[in-house]
Amino acid sequence: MHRRDSLDCATSSPLNPDKMKRYEKFADEIAELIRTGVLAPGQKLPSVRHASRTYGVSPSTVFQAYYLLESRGQILARARSGYFVRELAQRPLPEPEISAREAQTSEVDVSALVFSVLGSLKDPDTVPFGSAFPSPDLFPLARLARSMGHAVRELSPHAVIADMTEGNADLRRQIALRYMVSGVMLPLEELVISNGALEALNLCLQCVTAPGDLVAIEAPAFYATLQVLERLKLRAVEIPVHPREGIDLASLEDSLARLPIKACWFMSSLQNPLGASMGEEHKRALYALLQRHQVPLIEDDVYAELYFGSQPPKPVKSFDREGLVMHCGSFSKCLAPGYRVGWVAGGRWAEQIRRLKLMTTLSPSVPAQAAIADYLQHGGYDRHLRKLRHALESQQASMLASAARHFPASTRVTRPGGGYFLWFEFPEQVDSLRLFQLALAQGISLAPGPIFSATRRFRNCARLNYGHPWDAPSERAMELLGRIVDSF
Ligand SMILES: Cc1ncc(COP(=O)(O)O)c(C=O)c1O
Repeated sequence: MHRRDSLDCATSSPLNPDKMKRYEKFADEIAELIRTGVLAPGQKLPSVRHASRTYGVSPSTVFQAYYLLESRGQILARARSGYFVRELAQRPLPEPEISAREAQTSEVDVSALVFSVLGSLKDPDTVPFGSAFPSPDLFPLARLARSMGHAVRELSPHAVIADMTEGNADLRRQIALRYMVSGVMLPLEELVISNGALEALNLCLQCVTAPGDLVAIEAPAFYATLQVLERLKLRAVEIPVHPREGIDLASLEDSLARLPIKACWFMSSLQNPLGASMGEEHKRALYALLQRHQVPLIEDDVYAELYFGSQPPKPVKSFDREGLVMHCGSFSKCLAPGYRVGWVAGGRWAEQIRRLKLMTTLSPSVPAQAAIADYLQHGGYDRHLRKLRHALESQQASMLASAARHFPASTRVTRPGGGYFLWFEFPEQVDSLRLFQLALAQGISLAPGPIFSATRRFRNCARLNYGHPWDAPSERAMELLGRIVDSF
């Protein structure tokens, strides 16, 4: 089998932020200022000479960064005047506030509602704003298929059996390498390859809870979190999430002090559905709090690769010296939907997770693991990720601009720094379950707010997916949605 020493890849990997070109980094920094509103639409950017002096970069770096931002449609050049942040046709919609400050405890019963929403996504003619995936056209599926062919031909008869227990060795090395680049040194024994992140998350929860236990989750939370709790007969303590800053630590601290919480299941970066990413200090404080209470964290980080900035966000796992964090990742959202390959860095529970997996599903498909391992080594993963992130960033801008054109001015919307979801808070009187039905009748899907809550909150909210190339039908669908929202 043709194997390159995987550590060689690390030194030449474009993932390494140090290897990113200076002008790309500089462009990303400016894009972040535009996204967060520090540089407002219509505002003039510093002249090349001024920017070069202020930021200590060469004039050609500034030029190249401005060209890049112009090609991404974020700024425009005006003859003899300089560069300006692109004007929106409309004032941008405001961001939502945190939902509520207090935590809520409850039994979980959401599955029927979730299945009815998921069922609506099967029709390929429906505008897929309710989908959980980006467009398949954004994935390198043909290149992956070549990797699949190559890897399966090269697979040794021994590996076909042996990889079932340990997972594909190359794949585990490649995943460990990516952790290393984002600042987490991981012993290979900690990594368990799973059938997507969802299996990993299930196994983690099973390791540290028994039926009837309390688990802290986010409000709003990814709906499968609620379904897993429902299946395992666990009770949810819903902790409010700030749309920009993430988990409300005061509320979590209060719940940990009052209640016998057995585990936390949180997304510290690009939270689904809000897109919130905690800052590094916030993550450190979360870890310190959990460490004080010795409560394990199941960190769901499936959108980790879809950040828009120049640096990958650090997971809470990067602060973990005690094996208290089980960090779950996946290739479903960024490379290979349907291959069902995910993993967990299981901390002190790694061996228990591995045994539980052997007792349930045994192993993800060995050829699928081998295909992804081959692609990671030879397929140009980082190049693909850069393209994907840029496509998603520009599609986000299109959906935000379209929402500002068509939705009522009192609608609030998040501005996540990555991923492919926007969370909309419509005027109070809008019932998103009814909105879902009315929109579906017009061929538009969406994910209504109550499927993201154990207590069916977020009635006037919805998650919309911007993971598909923006086109005239997308624009028409937003206009139609706006009209339906207006009719409440
Ligand atoms: C937040 C979150 N966690 C986990 C998953 C499951 O990932 P996988 O497809 O790898 O099982 C998803 C997929 O929708 C998700 O959105």
